[in-house]
Amino acid sequence: MLTLTTTHTPLSDAQPGLVRVVLTESSTHRLVETAAGVTEFYYGVGKFEEVTMRRFRIILRGLIQATKSHQIERIAIELPQSRFPKLADQVTGWYYATIAENVLLADYEYTRYKTKKQKREKKDLKEFILCGVTDREAKAALTRGSTVATYMNAARDLANTPGNDLSPTDLGNETKKLLKLKNVTVSVLGEKELRKLKMGALLAVGQGTKSETRLIIAEYWGAGKPSGKHIPEEKRPIVLIGKGITFDSGGLNVKPTGSMHHMHLDMAGGAAVIGALGAMAALGLKKNVVVLVPTAENAISDDSMRAGDIITAMNGTTIEVLHTDAEGRLVLADALTYSARYQPRAIIDVATLTGAALVALGEYASAVMTTDLTLQTILTKLGEQSGDYTWPLPLWDEYKQNLKSNRADIANITQSFSKWGGCIEGGIFLAHFAPKDVPWAHLDIAPRMESVGADKLAKGATGEPARLLVHFVESY
Ligand code: BES
Ligand code: MN
Ligand code: ZN
Repeated sequence: MLTLTTTHTPLSDAQPGLVRVVLTESSTHRLVETAAGVTEFYYGVGKFEEVTMRRFRIILRGLIQATKSHQIERIAIELPQSRFPKLADQVTGWYYATIAENVLLADYEYTRYKTKKQKREKKDLKEFILCGVTDREAKAALTRGSTVATYMNAARDLANTPGNDLSPTDLGNETKKLLKLKNVTVSVLGEKELRKLKMGALLAVGQGTKSETRLIIAEYWGAGKPSGKHIPEEKRPIVLIGKGITFDSGGLNVKPTGSMHHMHLDMAGGAAVIGALGAMAALGLKKNVVVLVPTAENAISDDSMRAGDIITAMNGTTIEVLHTDAEGRLVLADALTYSARYQPRAIIDVATLTGAALVALGEYASAVMTTDLTLQTILTKLGEQSGDYTWPLPLWDEYKQNLKSNRADIANITQSFSKWGGCIEGGIFLAHFAPKDVPWAHLDIAPRMESVGADKLAKGATGEPARLLVHFVESY
């Protein structure tokens, strides 16, 4: 476990035994033993004046990866904000929270299934000391960033857990464990209750396995729990919905080899909203937030839903299931309907919904789809600010044509099986179920389901966009 601490003393006074990290403007790294017996790690980051917000995060993460590969256990560093002119406009709070977040995100590794022998062969980075910090605001921001990263890493742990060890029931239990926090209540609805609620779309996705389907509900009443039928404006919650497919085989439209073995991560959206709620509660935000995670396994058996099946969603809409691998939108449809009972101020759903999102945007941004321009602007701006990058795609009426069904109210994919605009098509489907007159946005996080090399993060889940959601709830 890495601890991040601060000291007001300068780097030159750092205790012996700590490796002193010195940032340089070169592009190489070098470990040096000085005559005085001090170990210095020269870490090249390129021209300081060219360090942008985006670069800064990668520099921090790269530093942590480099110290780890040198098996360094304790480091001291000085990182005055004034060193980076392009970051001068950012508030102290952003700067220090960013340091804490990225140091802890980069330190994360998923080792649960490594046997003890393999674990022992490696040394862990144990201490990161930030020297020359006197400012109380800076210290508070470091604590805040650490909290956010801790819950983001918890989300990564959930997402990285393989399908054989994380059923929908397990996900519910893990959520209860993780969210034992002040003003948070977690409840998990079972199949009997889901049937009573007529959640036919959610239940259909999970019907092919004996692992039971669930709806996880986590409520955080940081602004006070409303009582009575009419909820006053300031107590209306923001609802965050996360896709919770614990394994996506594709169903009877089975996925090909190479596309299936990462699909234990198909609950990354659920994990991110759960992690975000944990961070908000731990930070004590004075906001009301409700998290809904419809969770099921999309499995193959003689009980699985079939292509061509017609199912009835909670809101009464009949859906022709043209493709069993477009299951995420089905489970989200019922959660969107359910969210209306909270009289939400805004709804955001987060889902590893389509491979087409990767075709559209590549691997560095999640897609944001909404007809609410304010939400679109905030989410893209906070994406840049937080590091959980998002970029808009349209949800125009023209695209509604695509989901016409001959036999039911709507189809879950286009009848022509065309791949064009597949990411938008997912958004259009969800729009049909989002409560009317409530600002709603859909985030397709398939591009960020797994890290890529340039992220300088451990392979596997990213925990995104938990940071973005915390910032969003803080500011909305
Ligand atoms: N979970 C997948 C989407 C996905 C693919 C996420 C790759 C991350 C990486 C989703 O359930 C799915 O299978 N979507 C289909 C939709 C299609 C049938 C319209 C897809 O993307 O192929
Ligand atoms: Mn699928
Ligand atoms: Zn899926």
